[in-house]
Amino acid sequence: MPPPPRRPFPPSKGRNPGLTPSQKPAAAANSRGWDPVAAWYDKLVGESGSDYHQNVILPAVLRMLAPQPGESIVDVCCGQGVLARPLLESKVGRFLGVDASPRLIEAAKVRHGKDPRVSWLIADVCKPGAWADGSHDAAACLMAVHDVEDAVAMFSNISRALKPGGRAVFILMHPCFRIPKQTHWGWDPDQKIQFRRVDRYATPLEIPITTHPGKSSGEQTAFHHRPLSELLTSLGKGGLAVVACDELYSHRRSQGSGPFSKAEHFAAAEFPLFLALKALKVESPSLITHP
Ligand SMILES: C[S@@+](CC[C@H](N)C(=O)[O-])C[C@H]1O[C@@H](n2cnc3c(N)ncnc32)[C@H](O)[C@@H]1O
Repeated sequence: MPPPPRRPFPPSKGRNPGLTPSQKPAAAANSRGWDPVAAWYDKLVGESGSDYHQNVILPAVLRMLAPQPGESIVDVCCGQGVLARPLLESKVGRFLGVDASPRLIEAAKVRHGKDPRVSWLIADVCKPGAWADGSHDAAACLMAVHDVEDAVAMFSNISRALKPGGRAVFILMHPCFRIPKQTHWGWDPDQKIQFRRVDRYATPLEIPITTHPGKSSGEQTAFHHRPLSELLTSLGKGGLAVVACDELYSHRRSQGSGPFSKAEHFAAAEFPLFLALKALKVESPSLITHP
């Protein structure tokens, strides 16, 4: 999901802890997934991606994935298919988009489904499925690692989907600086700096997100915060070894020239929005699995 617009100096709203793993059953019951907000998300992302897709996420995934002509690539949690077009323009031989939301897959078919190289599958990527068949050269997963409940299961399936030595690229909200309801911008008037406040980090949380701001229907999705150690260890448990990491910053810059703008500009260049990881399929996951 594209991050919410930056609100430089919000008042502190106090602690809003989200739900720890012991409270998860209640959260799961409330979580209705992305289907109810599919029309909103499809409109937000559109034909070529949100502002963040176009300026930050898609350039980064193309750079790290380096798709080669003729390759087979699976887009895991593809949403309405925003990655299809850039990959087809890179002349990949086959593109498979997999997502749990039937409405988003329907939107993907309407937007990008005419090319014979493209196919779509409705599936829960945390469960074994036909797509995890060892036939793909590469996989991508954009803005969705924090949407799935069982990251190890998804990483294992991605590993199964890849050919030996296959690669996967993940782009997600930066787990250290972008935790919904737990991280905020603040302003220090004495030092004239914009700081990033992190209220919680170490505890895995399931955080309900109102996905369709401005509409009173209260549709929610669940954001699964995992600290970096858990995220990286989950990749290893899934049979994927990280070989490259990038931290992606906002392309947006304040236009003004006063102290606020200067501080905002500085902070935007210091605190990354997204974490990008490239991992390779490992044949013997037991070699890399953390106890
Ligand atoms: C924020 S959207 C990102 C979609 C797309 N990758 C993009 O960048 O626009 C998160 C997506 O993850 C999908 N998703 C969440 N959990 C899933 C699961 N267990 N299996 C398959 N898809 C899932 C949702 O349906 C939704 O399309």
